[in-house]
Amino acid sequence: MIIGVPKEKDVKEHRVALSPKNILKIKKLGYSVIVEKGCGVMSKYSDEEYKAAGAELVEDFKELSSKSDIIFKVQPPTEEEVSQLRKGILLFSYLYPARNGELLKKLADKGVNAIAMDAIPRISRAQKMDVLSSMANIMGYRAVVEASYYFGRFLNGQITAAGKVDPAKVLVIGAGVAGLAAIGTAKAMGAIVRAFDTRKEVQEQIQSMGAQFLTVNIEEDGSTASGYSKEMSKQFLEAEEELFLQQAKEVDIIITTAQIPGKEAPKLILQKHVEAMKRGSVIVDLAAGTGGNCVLTKPNEIYVTNNGVTIIGKVDILPMQASFLYGNNLINFLEEMGNAESFKIDMNDDVVKRAMVVYEGSVNWPPEPISVSAQKKVEIPK
Ligand code: NAI
Repeated sequence: MIIGVPKEKDVKEHRVALSPKNILKIKKLGYSVIVEKGCGVMSKYSDEEYKAAGAELVEDFKELSSKSDIIFKVQPPTEEEVSQLRKGILLFSYLYPARNGELLKKLADKGVNAIAMDAIPRISRAQKMDVLSSMANIMGYRAVVEASYYFGRFLNGQITAAGKVDPAKVLVIGAGVAGLAAIGTAKAMGAIVRAFDTRKEVQEQIQSMGAQFLTVNIEEDGSTASGYSKEMSKQFLEAEEELFLQQAKEVDIIITTAQIPGKEAPKLILQKHVEAMKRGSVIVDLAAGTGGNCVLTKPNEIYVTNNGVTIIGKVDILPMQASFLYGNNLINFLEEMGNAESFKIDMNDDVVKRAMVVYEGSVNWPPEPISVSAQKKVEIPK
C-alpha cells in the first residue's frame, strides 16, 4: 500500500504531514511512501532527506493522488485537490467537520473516505493519535518561550555578584494540555507558577508539577463526560474575574488557554486586569484563534498597551517539531488499522467510526457521543 504526502497549499501552514524520520517508522509497517516535491521546505526538511528515508518524489498533487492508496495531509484539501482525489482513496487530515459540511459532502460525492484528525474521541486509547493534544503541548511550551522573550527579564531567581534577581511570577489560566505544558516549561525555567482551571480534577496535576492551584469560593465543577469543559455560571465567572484582578497586580506573565469546544473562548482578562498589571508584564493568549481570553488581544498580532503590557495573540507552532509529532499521531492511527498486509477499515472500532467523517459516499457527522473514563473526584481543601 502506498501513502502519499502532499505539499501544503495554504501559505500560512508550515507543517508537513510526515517528517523524514516518520517515514523510517512507517516503512517498518510495510507501507511505501511518496511525497510531493518541496513538501517539507517550510518545516526545514529537504527533498534529499525524504529520498534518503526511502520516499519517492513526485511532481504534483495530481500525480500523488493517482498513485496513492492513502493521503496524509495537514490542512483540509483545497477545491482543486478535492477534484484530483480519486475514488476509494483514504484521506487523513484536519477537516474541522463541525464547520465544513460542504467539504464533507464534496468528499462523499467523490467517493473519498476521510478521517478528521481533529475529531479523535478523548478516550485513553486514542491519546497517542490525538493531534489536538500534541499540538497544544507545543503551543504551551512555546507560549512560555515567547513570554520570556518579551518579558525581558530572567524567569528564575538569581543571586549574582551584580545583585539579586527575584523569580518571575507566572499565572496559567486553563490547565488542559497546553496549560500543563506551559506550567511545566515555566517551572523548568525557574518561575513561580500559579494556575487556575474550572475542572477540579486538574488540581492534583497542577500541584504535582510544583505549581500553586488557585480556587474560587464557589462549588461548581467545569468537567463533563466528554473530557472537555462546560461554560460556567455567571456567578462563577464573576468570582474568577475578582481572583484574576488580585493576580494581575502580582504576576509578571499571564498565559491563557481556556476554551469551550464549539463556543467562543470565555473572556477572562478584561481591560481592568490589563490596567492592573505592571509595566513590562506579558499576556500570551493561546485562545486568540477562538476569540481570545483577553478582551484586548489582537489575533495574529503582538503589541504593547499604553501601560506597557505586551499582549501576544500569535504563537509559532514550531513546524519542524510539530510535523514530527503530527506524523507520529498519523502513524499511531494507521498502526491501529493494521500493517500494509492486514490493513482494514473497522467501523466498529470506537476511534475509527467517530473520526471517519466521510465513509462510502456518506457524511458521518456528528458522531454519537462517547464518554471518557470517569474522573476521580477530588476534594478541594477549604
Ligand atoms: P481545551 O483546550 O478545550 O481547554 C483548555 C482548558 O481551559 C481546559 O482545561 C478547561 O477546563 C479550561 N477552561 C475552560 N473554561 C475556563 C474558565 N472559564 N476558566 C479557567 N479555565 C477554563 O482543553 P484540552 O487542553 O484540549 O483538554 C482538556 C482535558 O481533556 C485534558 O486535560 C485531558 O484530561 C483531556 N484530554 C484527554 C484526551 C484523551 O484521553 N485522548 C486527549 C486530550 C485531552
